[in-house]
Amino acid sequence: MFSGIARRYDLLNHLLSGNIDKRWRRKTARALESSLVEGARVLDVACGTGDLSLVLAEAGAVRVVGLDFCRPMLEIARRKAAEGSRAIPFVEGDALRLPFADETFDAATIAFGLRNLAGVADGLRELRRILKPGGRLAVLEFSSPVVPGFRALFRFYFTRVLPRVGGLVSGSRGAYEYLPDSVTRFPDQKRLAKLIRAEGFEGVEYSNLTGGIAALHTGTRAG
Ligand SMILES: C[S@@+](CC[C@H](N)C(=O)[O-])C[C@H]1O[C@@H](n2cnc3c(N)ncnc32)[C@H](O)[C@@H]1O
Repeated sequence: MFSGIARRYDLLNHLLSGNIDKRWRRKTARALESSLVEGARVLDVACGTGDLSLVLAEAGAVRVVGLDFCRPMLEIARRKAAEGSRAIPFVEGDALRLPFADETFDAATIAFGLRNLAGVADGLRELRRILKPGGRLAVLEFSSPVVPGFRALFRFYFTRVLPRVGGLVSGSRGAYEYLPDSVTRFPDQKRLAKLIRAEGFEGVEYSNLTGGIAALHTGTRAG
């Protein structure tokens, strides 16, 4: 599915969100600021076309690695990094079996990726495994709008308008029908925070982005 939409993925992200997605990724990098110190190793899981990896690399003299299992997405990420003269290794691999040793990274991110994994808890466990004790995690994901009127309006847009526009531009209506369906099945802000805690993270907090359309969860790997 992701291979089929890779070529139009960036365009549609920015078009369908009115560019708000860029702000969300910048906020994700800012939330990890204290970990983005010189030489820190940062892993961006389910990096797709690499937008968050690039924002993380701009945030400091850190060593960012992007990982995804979709080759066409990675090819675009590599091209963008080369255009911006960023030396980011983009690795092909599975988020559920990360090809890294235990306790390798100082920080890890997953943006709009956790929802797509076969097991959310399994994905979180793997993220915890590759983080050093005290390492920071940031999860950016679609969530549940918190204001009732806005929620209804957004739901209409997300389930009626977005699949049509996404389908027309990408040629894959299924992928843009899958998006609202998968968000509906995904845990809301509070439940996700609980899941992250249950997988061995402490200080877990979240902030709602754009009225809860998305949420940014952060936490620290407990000892
Ligand atoms: C919606 S895109 C998000 C891409 C990027 N993080 C962003 O912010 O735009 C989801 C990405 O997750 C990747 N993905 C889904 N399941 C995966 C898995 N098990 N292992 C690695 N990547 C996965 C897909 O290939 C896709 O590139």
